[in-house]
Amino acid sequence: MALFESKNEHALDKNGLIPAHIAIIMDGNGRWAKKRMMPRVYGHKEGMNTLKKIAIHAQDLGVKVLTLYAFSTENWKRPNDEVSFLMNLPIDFFDVFMPELIENKIKVTTIGWIDELPEKTKKIVQNAVERTKDHEGMILNFAFNYGSRQEMTEAIKNVAEKVQRKELSAEDVTEELVSQEMFTGFLNEYQDPDLVIRTSGEIRISNFLLWQIAYSELYFTDEYWPDFSPKSLDQAIATYQHRNRRFGGI
Ligand code: FPP
Repeated sequence: MALFESKNEHALDKNGLIPAHIAIIMDGNGRWAKKRMMPRVYGHKEGMNTLKKIAIHAQDLGVKVLTLYAFSTENWKRPNDEVSFLMNLPIDFFDVFMPELIENKIKVTTIGWIDELPEKTKKIVQNAVERTKDHEGMILNFAFNYGSRQEMTEAIKNVAEKVQRKELSAEDVTEELVSQEMFTGFLNEYQDPDLVIRTSGEIRISNFLLWQIAYSELYFTDEYWPDFSPKSLDQAIATYQHRNRRFGGI
């Protein structure tokens, strides 16, 4: 367990408070593979399998929204081979996992600049969103080509333009309105994550949902993402259940 977590492991209370929105920074795929003397992309492939298991488990626990940081606006800086492998993963994922998504009534959504993805990736993602749009189970929300500062910059621009066109006055700019301008606006009461998990021992947020996590509980674990199991998720939620969220009150 990383910094700030007590050594006392808590047991999950399945009838207790389950975070409605969990957001995960799935980190450590490369290191996981390296430890096994395998190429980094092998870690991403295994990370995709972890993602499937965690999505099903989260849905079983009653989580409403699971947001996964799959590709950041900064990840384009990686070697071409790795970027193209990561861009092909959604194709594999939705090809194989679609029947389970349908069976579990999971609804796929995205945040980020999907239009900038390679055509084939974009199509498969849009197809998954379209095919699951009427599902009423958990929302599986992929952050693809997502960056939080860019998201906020875009939101500010949109609001400024509305003011310029006199559709809004400066006094109308409230927190709710700003939230609505974020990619996560469509999540309504579930826009802000209750719990953010980062794997692999890194203690940072890396441009993920900076506006939305103002009051989120943060949980860091040393496990690499491919090793993160349903039991690890239970542990994260159990820790969350023992936190005392005050939202600035006492
Ligand atoms: C960070 O690990 C992980 C990523 C940049 C990609 C995460 C993607 C997946 C887990 C699979 C996604 C699957 C679908 C269907 C979208 P890292 O490469 O930075 O690991 P390192 O820090 O050990 O190098």
